Amino acid sequence: MKFAKIIGVGKYLPKKVLTNRGLEKMVNTSDEWIIARTGIKERRIADKNEATSDLALKAGVDALKNARIKAQDLDLIIVATITPDTQFPSTASIIQSRLGAKKAACFDISAACSGFVYSLIIAQQFIESGLFKNVLIIGAEKLSMVIDWTDRNTCVLFGDGAGAAVVSRCEKPGILSTYMGGDGSLGNLLMVPAGGSRIPTSHETIDQKLHYLRMQGNEIFKLAVKAMTDAAKKALLKAKLNISDIDCLITHQANARIILATGKRLGLSQDKIFMNINKYGNTSSASIAIALCEAIESKRIKKGGIVVLDAFGAGLAWGACVIKW
Ligand code: COA
Repeated sequence: MKFAKIIGVGKYLPKKVLTNRGLEKMVNTSDEWIIARTGIKERRIADKNEATSDLALKAGVDALKNARIKAQDLDLIIVATITPDTQFPSTASIIQSRLGAKKAACFDISAACSGFVYSLIIAQQFIESGLFKNVLIIGAEKLSMVIDWTDRNTCVLFGDGAGAAVVSRCEKPGILSTYMGGDGSLGNLLMVPAGGSRIPTSHETIDQKLHYLRMQGNEIFKLAVKAMTDAAKKALLKAKLNISDIDCLITHQANARIILATGKRLGLSQDKIFMNINKYGNTSSASIAIALCEAIESKRIKKGGIVVLDAFGAGLAWGACVIKW
């Protein structure tokens, strides 16, 4: 029997910090409102010349270093992103070239905020089937380029960043169970309408700001709590574990109120929930990856600990992984 395990994690955050006070100068909002409604204090914004692959590469290098494996030993690179450098080639191909990971296959996946959890589950399949030994997964986003910086309903919520993990074949199981779910009929609740084949880029689409993220926040809020609660329960059941077995819950970092409501519905005490949304806002596919990295760095996750990764986002797509660290 072959098992998959995360053997190293990494992250990269752009240097520029945009605080709530900074946003007060851009739109009609306040530090107090943003903190009370979302828990976000600041977010990172990538430089004009910094593309998603630049963030992804740094997170990937960090993960390889922590995993103590060489890029040449990678069999596969998966980049989860909704803000790729170009429509094609994939951002994973750019990473493969820049890492010199010559024998690695590479592709991107589009699962928005569930992208990192979905990539982990995909990596697990390749490893447990025996096809591959070492897979680098990266969640990376430059969301600042799809945000309408005049829309206070959305611009206060998002940020840029990247997180990564090396998933490798191991003797003992590291990923104990997984669950994936989706509801495409609700896709219009969170989307970028133009720039694809349905509404290609034109002067009109740009004038109408159709290349920016649109969201029905209230609806998404309720659905996120419900879906992440359900996903965590289903994954735990598959692993034959109980809520009380969880040492650390890492949900998607979209809103502190969503995270705490999910924890409450699960019946989990707050000290078991890891949050870093205050520093970075919602970085979509990078959120859980960065949080996992910081939970490990800060020793919130210890060897042998049971960790639940719990994701929800555009699609709608959601899912959870129970891992033993
Ligand atoms: N600053 C100040 N006021 C703001 C504001 C801002 N940045 N954004 C919205 N408001 C106002 C609204 O206009 C509204 O005013 P009104 O009552 O006069 O109409 C009021 O605040 C309340 O808005 P509401 O949308 O009800 O707030 P909320 O408590 O639901 O919080 C979100 C809004 C977006 C923070 C919240 O719905 C949310 O987090 N949704 C989920 C987002 C998400 O997870 N997205 C990604 C999923 S992966």
